[in-house]
Amino acid sequence: MSGLFITFEGIDGAGKSTHIDALAAALRAGGRTVVLTREPGGTPLAEKLRALALNEPMDALTEALLMFAARRDHLLQVIEPALARGDAVLCDRFTDATFAYQGGGRGFDLAVLGTLERWVQSVPALPPPGLRQPDVTVWFDLPPAVAAQRLAGARVPDKFESQPQAFFERVAAGYAQRAQADPARFLRVPADQSREAVWEAVASGLRARGVLA
Ligand code: TYD
Repeated sequence: MSGLFITFEGIDGAGKSTHIDALAAALRAGGRTVVLTREPGGTPLAEKLRALALNEPMDALTEALLMFAARRDHLLQVIEPALARGDAVLCDRFTDATFAYQGGGRGFDLAVLGTLERWVQSVPALPPPGLRQPDVTVWFDLPPAVAAQRLAGARVPDKFESQPQAFFERVAAGYAQRAQADPARFLRVPADQSREAVWEAVASGLRARGVLA
């Protein structure tokens, strides 16, 4: 089997987690080896960078550099070796989150993020242009007002979760822009419906792409 790289995106409160677990179970039932991981994080170094990026105040460039530094370590240590073995890698957030949060949310320069994306995701083993991108990105698209209701009182918020709704409006617009730029990669799932209906949308979208039987 060849490797499969699936990422999961959406604003905080969009409800990715249960569906990532359900997809892992479905792929394992189909005989695949699954690596479950997340960003920022996924290696000891990247988890340290995550703790800094999610809890310490810093300017948007510093934040973007930490996200991409964590990503580089994660890509080299975990994602590339797993794909080379033929595993399915399910990653909770990836570079689209940097474009949505640091780019959209914090207003950081998208061209600079694009340059960092090319540096960090360059993998010599790949055919030109040698850029690692997810095979599929499942985007849980939820109106920010609904996400705010879901998050209210859910748990102690981190630096991003405590942002006002206007921030998440910009993050959501950032995701929409990324999806529009690469519609073949993005599977948009309307997330303002029951958990069962969301899972059915995820599963049917992935069946249509040949990822699930
Ligand atoms: P999240 O994935 O929602 O994890 P949890 O469910 O444990 O809260 O949290 C990660 C946070 O990091 C989320 O608010 C988005 C933010 N983030 C960025 O700002 N930029 C990035 O590049 C990534 C990967 C995440």
